[in-house]
Amino acid sequence: MSDVVRGAVEAFGVVHSLKNHVSSLRVLMGLIEPRLSGSDYEKYHRLMKRELEDISQLILCIQDGRDPDRQQVNLKDLLKDLHSLMAPRSQLARVDTELVLPEDLPDIRGNLLFLAEAFRNVWENAIEALERGGKLRITAGKSQDTRGRPAVEVTFEDNGPGIPPAILSHITTPFVTTKQHGMGLGLSTARSIVERHGGELDISSGPWGTSVTFRLPV
Ligand SMILES: Nc1ncnc2c1ncn2[C@@H]1O[C@H](COP(=O)(O)OP(=O)(O)OP(=O)(O)O)[C@@H](O)[C@H]1O
Ligand SMILES: [Mg+2]
Repeated sequence: MSDVVRGAVEAFGVVHSLKNHVSSLRVLMGLIEPRLSGSDYEKYHRLMKRELEDISQLILCIQDGRDPDRQQVNLKDLLKDLHSLMAPRSQLARVDTELVLPEDLPDIRGNLLFLAEAFRNVWENAIEALERGGKLRITAGKSQDTRGRPAVEVTFEDNGPGIPPAILSHITTPFVTTKQHGMGLGLSTARSIVERHGGELDISSGPWGTSVTFRLPV
């Protein structure tokens, strides 16, 4: 068996195991669901269920090698949902998150799951950078891309230590990381998702912190 074939078999083996784990989790979560109804934890259970469905969708995309479906995406709803999902982690890390979303943000055409993945990678980086607490400000608004086409802009700005200058110029290259357990895939994935949506990703950083802007065509 060639290395390429062996690699592919191993990768499909991992996907297969992931599917088994997801099925077990789905059964276990179904078992605890009736116990949680009416309690404060019901909301977390609902979020966990959705996370699990998202993982299943991602597995299907990897397995079939298919391009994800596109639909009208309301970025305001998406960012608010992610805010609820990230809230427990942010509280734990003492990150004060401010979400500034205008009422009239136009929908964009894209894949909800993949866009959520891209925002989340950047959101997680900000929380990880603010290990001693700090501020994360997420803003959205109407904008234009560099070719003058109408777009929606979403910016994540943190007041952490900034990206080390030595790696800033190639920060979206896969496997660039300064973290002991990091894979260096968060920003490269975010960039490829944005580009597959016809958008642009801008990253600037300095001693004041880091700012990451997504510009997605309307
Ligand atoms: N908001 C930020 N503040 C400071 N440094 C950052 C920030 N975002 C990214 N970085 C730097 O960029 C590097 C690459 O980030 P990226 O998300 O691609 O990978 P990672 O976080 O190291 O690993 P993972 O694959 O788990 O996301 C990080 O290791 C970190 O050094
Ligand atoms: Mg990361």
